[in-house]
Amino acid sequence: MDHIKIAPSLLAADFANLAAEVALVEPYVDMLHLDIMDGHFVPNISFGMPVIESLRKHTSLLFDCHMMTTNPDVYFTELKQAGGDLVMIHIEAITDPTEAASKAREVGLGFGLVLNPPTPFEAVEPFVELADMVLIMSVHPGFGGQSFMPEVLEKTESARKWVDEHGLSVDIQIDGGINPETARLAGRAGANVFVAGTAIFRADDPVAAVQELRQAINGR
Ligand code: DX5
Ligand code: ZN
Repeated sequence: MDHIKIAPSLLAADFANLAAEVALVEPYVDMLHLDIMDGHFVPNISFGMPVIESLRKHTSLLFDCHMMTTNPDVYFTELKQAGGDLVMIHIEAITDPTEAASKAREVGLGFGLVLNPPTPFEAVEPFVELADMVLIMSVHPGFGGQSFMPEVLEKTESARKWVDEHGLSVDIQIDGGINPETARLAGRAGANVFVAGTAIFRADDPVAAVQELRQAINGR
């Protein structure tokens, strides 16, 4: 099993206080999860390049950019310039994952693939070796604060089995409704990167919340 990584989702942070919110958790987490929504691929609008660029000046955390937009590849160059590190693309949003992967690499971004809850793991199998990370959504994307869908645990198990059997070191990320209990289940199923918005930034003590997540996962 790969190293356990915690990725707080900025979506649940106080948008008027982003630098301080990120600084608080920075020493305890492995990357920052940025949910970029265009109001078209998902029925919500979050934030885009100017916010990422501003935030880049305040943190050296890896920016894990979850693109919930139509035509995500159109933004790769801008995303890199704004300070993005890893671009995560929905398989449902692109027609040619191989081309998207090489486009991302060309501009210097890491690359990953995202699956919505109804999308089977088989949909990404031919492209997993091109990716640094595969994200299994455990809610329908678009909004924070939703409940974890336990039906994606089986897909997480298949993903872990497939990645290990193929000797790949691709991270398996889980996103949506993650709290200590659901993180434990997802970790047991084989996820090693855990996105949490509400459970971290809406907690009274976000640092303690990160530690509770780690303990739950390690105790699985
Ligand atoms: C949902 C986003 C998630 C969201 C997670 O579309 O992809 O990253 O911020 O939020 P919680 O942890 O509150 O479910
Ligand atoms: Zn996300």
